[in-house]
Amino acid sequence: MSAGVDLDSVSMDFGTFRAVDNVAVNIQPGEFFSFLGPSGCGKTTILRMISGFIDPTKGMVRIGGRDMKGQRPNQRPTALIFQNLALFPLMPVWENIAFGLEVRGVDKIKRRARAEELLRLVDLPDAGDKMVSQLSGGQKQRVAIARALAVEPSVMLLDEPLSALDLKLRQHMRAELRAIQKRTGVTFIYITHDQGEALAMSDRVGVMSQGKLQQVANPRDIYNNPANGFVASFVGENNVFAGEVKGQEGNLARFVTPGGTFTARLGPGVAPGAKARLFLRPEHARLLADPGAANSIPVEVTDVAFEGNFISIHARDAGGQVLVAEARNDGSSSIPQPGERRHFAFDGANAVILTGDTAAKDVDE
Ligand SMILES: Nc1ncnc2c1ncn2[C@@H]1O[C@H](COP(=O)(O)OP(=O)(O)O)[C@@H](O)[C@H]1O
Ligand SMILES: [Mg+2]
Repeated sequence: MSAGVDLDSVSMDFGTFRAVDNVAVNIQPGEFFSFLGPSGCGKTTILRMISGFIDPTKGMVRIGGRDMKGQRPNQRPTALIFQNLALFPLMPVWENIAFGLEVRGVDKIKRRARAEELLRLVDLPDAGDKMVSQLSGGQKQRVAIARALAVEPSVMLLDEPLSALDLKLRQHMRAELRAIQKRTGVTFIYITHDQGEALAMSDRVGVMSQGKLQQVANPRDIYNNPANGFVASFVGENNVFAGEVKGQEGNLARFVTPGGTFTARLGPGVAPGAKARLFLRPEHARLLADPGAANSIPVEVTDVAFEGNFISIHARDAGGQVLVAEARNDGSSSIPQPGERRHFAFDGANAVILTGDTAAKDVDE
């Protein structure tokens, strides 16, 4: 059983501060939907409104089409998981999972059977009699998920549940969570400041900044067709050129910057005459030996970093801006050395011109 969640122009004010500003989105039954944004942008506040711990100042939350106004958290078909798992460390795993069933008066044989079924679902089939304190961080996380699923929620709300785990485990748990969601068919609403998590797991992602939903789209479109400068700069790496749109060139726009004139796609709502920014992903940049290519500017290579599966090359243009190109480590491209002069070039179809503020990049914690 899963249910859709509708946020109908929902706002949340704390005093005079608007933490969530007119957010409208329809999350489908069985969807894995993530809210992605920097710390303080209003993600947790959205989850608290869906779970019923706070009521929106304006707008309506509907679950399964029903207005949730006045429904307390325990009356809603939701379960909440957050970073702090609140498991009972000295209680057997199976009892932790069945805790919510005991509260509901389910008898012990049925509780144990349900716990074992959920342990198989989260891929911990033999852990039922262990103490929670004996488990690793990732195993505890799975127990918490099993416990939340035990009461058969229609909607799972997950607030940065992986942020306490180390990087390797976090990456492994992405696939696990996704698989559990697909197996159960329960609607997952997942909150994270980690773009890699959101892109890897979600059917759709809602990118947020300062309480406002900036874009809702599938992960590919979020990355390839960002709606504005915030989304482009928050998700993934970019080379950014500030300039002005000055007319058309075929399907592309002509974009004049202090360092040179380029062509690029026009983003949504950007018109000729606009002051804007051109965004180009490092994997679409090339460093050519010969001059004369369209969309190219002379640069000097400053740094070459071997990253394993790719090679990251930094180069400085005439104005002193550092640009980044990534080459695949498959022998298909010649890798320049620091000090070499090259021409930073790209295909205009791979660059997009957008307006709006850019995101201050967090260093991932
Ligand atoms: N109960 C509250 N009272 C006052 N301000 C709050 C309250 N809860 C959250 N805020 C503020 O609302 C903003 C959004 O918070 P939150 O939803 O927790 O952000 P996120 O989860 O995206 O980091 C923050 O500026 C936070 O300080
Ligand atoms: Mg939060």
